Amino acid sequence: MAGSVGSAAVELDDKVAMPLVGLGTWQMTGARCQAAVRTALQVGYRHIDTASMYRNERDVGRAVRDSGVPRGEVFVTTKLPPGAAGRERRTLHDSLRALGMDYVDLWLVHWPPRERALVSTWEALLAARDQGLARAVGVSNYSLAQLDRLAAATGQLPQVNQIPWAPALYDPAVADGHRRRGVVLEGYSPFKNTDLRHPVLTEIAARHTVTTAQVVVRWHVDHQVVVIPKSASPERIAVNFDVWGFSLPGEELARIDGLSRSL
Ligand SMILES: NC(=O)c1ccc[n+]([C@@H]2O[C@H](COP(=O)([O-])OP(=O)(O)OC[C@H]3O[C@@H](n4cnc5c(N)ncnc54)[C@H](OP(=O)(O)O)[C@@H]3O)[C@@H](O)[C@H]2O)c1
Repeated sequence: MAGSVGSAAVELDDKVAMPLVGLGTWQMTGARCQAAVRTALQVGYRHIDTASMYRNERDVGRAVRDSGVPRGEVFVTTKLPPGAAGRERRTLHDSLRALGMDYVDLWLVHWPPRERALVSTWEALLAARDQGLARAVGVSNYSLAQLDRLAAATGQLPQVNQIPWAPALYDPAVADGHRRRGVVLEGYSPFKNTDLRHPVLTEIAARHTVTTAQVVVRWHVDHQVVVIPKSASPERIAVNFDVWGFSLPGEELARIDGLSRSL
């Protein structure tokens, strides 16, 4: 995939493509969040990850409008807070009002709700998709067994599961489990869970003349795992997205996968 455009994406269904690299926005609000989202859109990101709980949907929406990038070209994810079971529709309307948008590209259940609301919450997400308020729906922080429970109850698997993912967390059984079910694996906290000075990463980065952070992002892309690094720094926002001029051969991917056993 080396040399391909920065909009490399995975298909969620025949109508919705999700860019593999997005900007995470947790712990950024106000002008700082707006500047980060504008910078990201300027340097080529077309995917922004927010959540009701981040209290920055208003900033994300404003930055998307101010960027001049057409709404239809930006993939926007938001998430239902765990305490909002039973109030799903009202919560989505609040998110859309804050974002200033009439739909989101992806709406996720942020964390599994209490057991007896697991299925009803998922049904509310499916209904929102049917009504065009979310182009795709999924979950976050769910186990494979929980994905199967939703499918058994409704016949519909989540399109995406957003979970912590990084070389040190690499688990081939989890990756395969998602692939076999056709659920896109979206990783979060790629850097917080990584020692960016690990000698395996520094050696591979030097070979490609990139930074270890870029190696970590590219490792996700080469595994077709969606990744949403967060940065408030314009330089790091740009660097984290500049991963289209190289790719990791199988031997390097395997060495990075192996960090999950060595750390
Ligand atoms: N679904 C969930 O439950 C859940 C949970 C956690 C996160 N998330 C999502 O995933 C996103 C990413 O995860 P995260 O924010 O936890 O952590 P992250 O993206 O792994 O790491 C962010 C940290 O790394 C630093 N950083 C960014 N680029 C860097 C680079 N090139 N070199 C060195 N350091 C760099 C950032 O500092 P600067 O800002 O100073 O650059 C910040 O301190 C979140 O923002 C959120 O959207 C979802």
